[in-house]
Amino acid sequence: MLTIALSKGKLIESALDLFRRAGYKIAGLSVDSRRLIFVSSENDMTFLIVRSSDVPTYVEYGGADAGIVGKDVLMEQESDVYEPLDLDFGACRISLASLRGEDHNDRLSSKIRIATKYPRISERYFNTRGIPVEIIKLYGSIELAPVVGLADRIVDLVETGSTLKAHDLVELEVIAQSTARFIVNRASLRLKQEPLMELIRKLRAAVRNQRALSGNGRMSAAGTRRKKMVFP
Ligand code: PRP
Repeated sequence: MLTIALSKGKLIESALDLFRRAGYKIAGLSVDSRRLIFVSSENDMTFLIVRSSDVPTYVEYGGADAGIVGKDVLMEQESDVYEPLDLDFGACRISLASLRGEDHNDRLSSKIRIATKYPRISERYFNTRGIPVEIIKLYGSIELAPVVGLADRIVDLVETGSTLKAHDLVELEVIAQSTARFIVNRASLRLKQEPLMELIRKLRAAVRNQRALSGNGRMSAAGTRRKKMVFP
């Protein structure tokens, strides 16, 4: 029996669709249900529904043999998991943004305040540029922070850009691109090698078929126009 951790939220419908396209019948798993565990006897799989930021933890520590999670979460957590597949869906980017008109603001204090749910990615980004920042960790609704003066800038996930737009924020720089990834526990890869390799093979075939159907390109966030970063 394989245990697979799926994240609540934006990725779950595409993840279930991927399993179906890979030939697995997943009856009874409803994203609207309060149930957090679904046993699929016919596939010899158990699905766990967890927070996206917890998927790498479940997989790294063996609570699940494998999982599906965004690359943004993996980059932030630097978990020790095997990452064999880019699943192409869930394309988004992690970007630096500010209020419109504040991108050239030279009245910012010498230490720029950055609100984000990605403190490590932000710190790495600013450290490599030698820019002193104060990171304010938030867990959601990041776009509010500059609006109420809690931070000068934000580092956040951008998918369609509509949340930025709704708060009069502009993207200054794309820090990283992200898509959903299939991740595997390193010990499970040895102990349950056969079923895991079969699952990876089927998922890989489904991803390739989808790529072929959608034309020449991968449905990634690549190609997003890079923004110029302007610092005071
Ligand atoms: C994410 C992200 C942005 C939004 C971006 O938030 O933090 O707020 O989606 O999407 P868009 O570019 O399509 O507007 P999420 O919905 O995960 O909720 P959160 O604010 O609680 O983190």
